[in-house]
Amino acid sequence: MQEQEVKIPSHIAIILDGNGRWAKKRNMPRNYGHTQGSKTVEKICEDAYKIGVKYLTVYAFSTENWKRPKDEVDAIMKLLRSYLQTSKKTAKKNNMRVRILGDKTGLSEDIQKSIDELEEVSRENTGLNLQVAINYGGRDEIIRAVKALSLDIKKNTIAIDNIDEKAMENYMDTKGIPDPDLLIRTSGEKRLSNFLLWQLAYTEFYFTDVLWPDFDKKELMKAIEYYNSRVRRFGAIS
Ligand code: IPE
Ligand code: IPE
Ligand code: MG
Repeated sequence: MQEQEVKIPSHIAIILDGNGRWAKKRNMPRNYGHTQGSKTVEKICEDAYKIGVKYLTVYAFSTENWKRPKDEVDAIMKLLRSYLQTSKKTAKKNNMRVRILGDKTGLSEDIQKSIDELEEVSRENTGLNLQVAINYGGRDEIIRAVKALSLDIKKNTIAIDNIDEKAMENYMDTKGIPDPDLLIRTSGEKRLSNFLLWQLAYTEFYFTDVLWPDFDKKELMKAIEYYNSRVRRFGAIS
């Protein structure tokens, strides 16, 4: 396939999975896999932007992930803290706008503050739009949206008759962000694990056995080739 023929999806969503298994294969603690996985996120952001992706959404921590052993949750939160700090610099350097999806109120106060700062300093950036889902669950997002919508109905700011898909989108964490064109899940698992239940309604799904820390630009291009094979078929006569 020639490079110029390739249609680059505007929005790619990724369920980054397999950090633990990657570390286990190397007889290392699971947290080592998370550290490597976070480096992969940084690299993929650059690769994705260079090839023309406009929106990238990554699933970093789900509402269900709190059930993991405390030391693993603590290590992931520590990693998130440092990721949010360094992202302030990389966002500036790469002209990247970062937004966090998920229930921020469930995160510790210093992390919430760091998120607010990062979102604020990168707000005007016009390069890659990066969404990081933290304490995110698709069902939780819909419930929070329904609650916010109900409050507006109570305040008479919206009438029940005016509730449609577009109105609903205003209450989602992804307000203003187009739906993903392509979803990638690494590590061989073929489930959504509560990711973007509303937004993935028409998205193409790509699954690979590659474990997240091993995911690179070559693997990203394979996913995009798959996407191209699907969009060509979609709407075709045959
Ligand atoms: C994905 O890797 C990262 C998070 C969910 C935080 P995992 O930690 O799920 O790795 P596996 O699936 O156990 O290998
Ligand atoms: C999904 O991965 C959540 C994230 C990638 C953050 P998990 O590894 O937590 O999902 P399950 O438990 O296999 O469904
Ligand atoms: Mg997993």
